[in-house]
Amino acid sequence: MTTNDVPAPVPAGLEGHEIVPATDFLRVTEQAALASARWVGQGDRHAADGAAVDAMRAEFSAMPITGEVIIGEGEKDEAPELYVGEVLGTGGMPCEIAVDPLEGTDLVARGDAGAIAVCVIGAPGGVMAAPDMYMQKLCVGANAKGRVDIAAPIADTLDTIARCYDRRVRDLSVVVLDRPRHEEMIEEIRGLGARIKLIPDGDITASMSAAVRGTGDHVYMGIGGSTEGVITAAALECLGGEIQARMWPKDDAQRERLKAFGLEDTERVLTARDLAPQPMYVLATGVTDGHLLKGVRYFSDGARTHSIVMDLQSRTVRFVDTIHMFSRTPLREIRL
Ligand code: FBP
Repeated sequence: MTTNDVPAPVPAGLEGHEIVPATDFLRVTEQAALASARWVGQGDRHAADGAAVDAMRAEFSAMPITGEVIIGEGEKDEAPELYVGEVLGTGGMPCEIAVDPLEGTDLVARGDAGAIAVCVIGAPGGVMAAPDMYMQKLCVGANAKGRVDIAAPIADTLDTIARCYDRRVRDLSVVVLDRPRHEEMIEEIRGLGARIKLIPDGDITASMSAAVRGTGDHVYMGIGGSTEGVITAAALECLGGEIQARMWPKDDAQRERLKAFGLEDTERVLTARDLAPQPMYVLATGVTDGHLLKGVRYFSDGARTHSIVMDLQSRTVRFVDTIHMFSRTPLREIRL
């Protein structure tokens, strides 16, 4: 018997229910990616996002689950589809859903790299209902897990990460969202000699990339969306990495809003235990090419997608390369 044959315990809240396997959810992100990738370079971020949302919702709706959207496209009055609280599926496995049907809407509009379709499936109570605002994040891979502290000076953090990777600070690649709010941090990192990769968008992808060896990225840091932080927490849990985060309200109204969620202490460091206490699966499909995933490629009678299926139940991480045939007649050729 290999360790992988030892069944993972049934997550709390799912006792007696038929567990839907992770790979059954693959169509959710694949179809979202296939739909939104048609909009690459078309300059229309809303159309790209809308296509991903429609496709994702249609796929969830056909699944044997009773899935409640915890992180979605907004509150009920803001979003007609995938709104927070919407229940999806034909009935079956109770679960919680966190989605970003298209992470990097502007990336797709411009035809830039790094856009993905992503979703998290958690057991009941498995995903935090975070209010949508900014969040400060520090994300590392397994090598630096348990060794970093978001409250520490950046110099100490980079020094620690460099030691975890048995290299010098100047050999690290730090991924940062290219935003005016990060100017000071960028200058500080530059002053410390580390290399920086400034990305236009997409901090879920960036954080996953920092947690996978071979991508060349070692840490993601900075302020991005809180809902993306929840999805990142689940993904890093599957990848053996770590997220530390702090809510970053921009005004009094947001500070007030945090109270309703019991998150008013903005110094409180949130970890995966807070953000995604019981994730089961995280799935992502590339829309445009990135370090981790290839983007959608279309051909005359089909398309090809590249996905990652992170499964804490079977304790597997799968990279899935799928050829989708659009016509009933067989494809003219299948390429490796
Ligand atoms: P979209 O998927 O909505 O396009 O968001 C992309 C993103 O770059 C996230 O990855 C990130 O967390 C957030 O936007 C940053 O927000 P802002 O663009 O306001 O700095």
